[in-house]
Amino acid sequence: SFHQKIPKGLKKLPGPRPYPVIGNALELGNNPHLSLTEMSQTYGDVMQIQIGMRPVLVLSGLDTLKQALLKQGDDFSGRPDLYTFRLIGDGQSLTFSHDSGDVWKARRRLAQNALKTFAVSPCTSTSCSCLVEEHICKEATYLVSKFLDLMETKGSFDPYRYVVVSVANVICAMCFGTRYNHEDQELVSLVNLTDEFGKAAASGNLADFIPLFQYLPSSTMETFKKINVKFTTFVQKLVKEHYMSFDKGNIRDITDSLIEHCQEKKVDENANIQMSDQKIVNIVNDLFGAGFDTVTTALSWSLMYLVAHPEIQRKLQEELDHVIGRERKPRLSDRAMLPYAEAFMLEMYRHSSFLPFTIPHCTTKDTALNGYYIPKNTCVFVNQWQVNHDQKIWKDPFTFNPERFLSTEGTGVNKTEAEKVQTFGMGKRRCIGEAIGRMEVFLFLTTMVQQLEFIKPEGEKLDMSAEYGLTMKHKRCMLQARPRFPTESAE
Ligand code: HEM
Repeated sequence: SFHQKIPKGLKKLPGPRPYPVIGNALELGNNPHLSLTEMSQTYGDVMQIQIGMRPVLVLSGLDTLKQALLKQGDDFSGRPDLYTFRLIGDGQSLTFSHDSGDVWKARRRLAQNALKTFAVSPCTSTSCSCLVEEHICKEATYLVSKFLDLMETKGSFDPYRYVVVSVANVICAMCFGTRYNHEDQELVSLVNLTDEFGKAAASGNLADFIPLFQYLPSSTMETFKKINVKFTTFVQKLVKEHYMSFDKGNIRDITDSLIEHCQEKKVDENANIQMSDQKIVNIVNDLFGAGFDTVTTALSWSLMYLVAHPEIQRKLQEELDHVIGRERKPRLSDRAMLPYAEAFMLEMYRHSSFLPFTIPHCTTKDTALNGYYIPKNTCVFVNQWQVNHDQKIWKDPFTFNPERFLSTEGTGVNKTEAEKVQTFGMGKRRCIGEAIGRMEVFLFLTTMVQQLEFIKPEGEKLDMSAEYGLTMKHKRCMLQARPRFPTESAE
């Protein structure tokens, strides 16, 4: 397809010269976000590389991302048909499957409605503003007491291991109406597999582009297959239980509401779109899967930055003490009054860029971008890391400095700066859990930091280097926490 004739008036995509058979696979290296950022300095914001025999469009630069994903959103709203993506959720994933037509649109709308009903709809029984806030506050309080327990019994702890269960419990509550104990082996062994998932599902996995790699033994790919089976089995069991106890008059959670939708779809506005029950109920797979790894990774990076920069942790605590005090826990309604916390989170998203690329996109028709011709079905990598470290739009991009986001008067967040940070994607494929994800990071973070001071154990070295993946992780690391003031024990 790359010998195609270029329509008149359009230019051929620039890019490095591909080697036979492997293309530019070697130049990608272990850190494609870094190598492709460097390459974009030579070839520009719209460039083509070739992985194996397959051409891949690589987009950089904030304006180019906006042009492609917002102004020409439909053209760039597809997902490529990749080997790894076919292994996720029986190949029927809302997020990863190649489907980007009416069925995808209807499923995406269903998912958004389900989240609206079971996350952000108002809460009547407590002082929380919405259901998800209630779940998060409960889990965050529990997490703080867990950290204190661990300090007493073990003297230090690996935060990731416990944060992931608390975060998974929030999405479990919404999807399935259940929560799990921190020692529950079924859940703990499931949610601790995300590192291997992210490695296989990352942009530029050679198995997706060079078929030979599908047949070579690879522990990452073997683990990846097992994770997907394990994950689907876990969800299917819960779905089966929901079918058994389903009661139309009492819709308990997202799974129930999807089952209800299957039964009522004949009278539905989307009745003209043919969708199997499986494709409807499967949506819960995507919500559960997307809902814990991202948020956990964000919180885990946050704790690393706090420990690496004690003076920044102190400023956060001073702001919390000043605005909220110590008598009560942080709430969503406090968020607008905590600009430093907001600035810290923005800087964490920007500096870590733990989602270095979005999930790969693909073009849905022949199109053009910045004057370059791009054929239909071209795989597209969107380099968020490049935008977040672009010298042209950030001063000292490699310095961790939350203050860059504060308005000059120091009373609020500078919106123009905030909107440059790329973390949730843009346009038709943008994250549907952004509001919930941001709420979770805010409430877990502020609750932990209000009550605890995080420090690195003596002699422990902080390794903040990021391992490449769909979501990039730092090395697991033992931390310590000290109570900032006497707290009542957890209920
Ligand atoms: C997609 C980021 C939390 C559900 C995405 C994408 C990104 C992202 C970068 C891909 C965008 C693209 O391909 O252009 C994040 C971050 C989160 C977060 C940084 C937390 C800090 C969540 C949560 C949920 C969720 C909590 C669900 C409750 C989804 C779904 C998609 C998605 C379903 C696929 C959308 C589609 O393909 O149409 N997210 N996400 N995310 N996210 Fe999130």
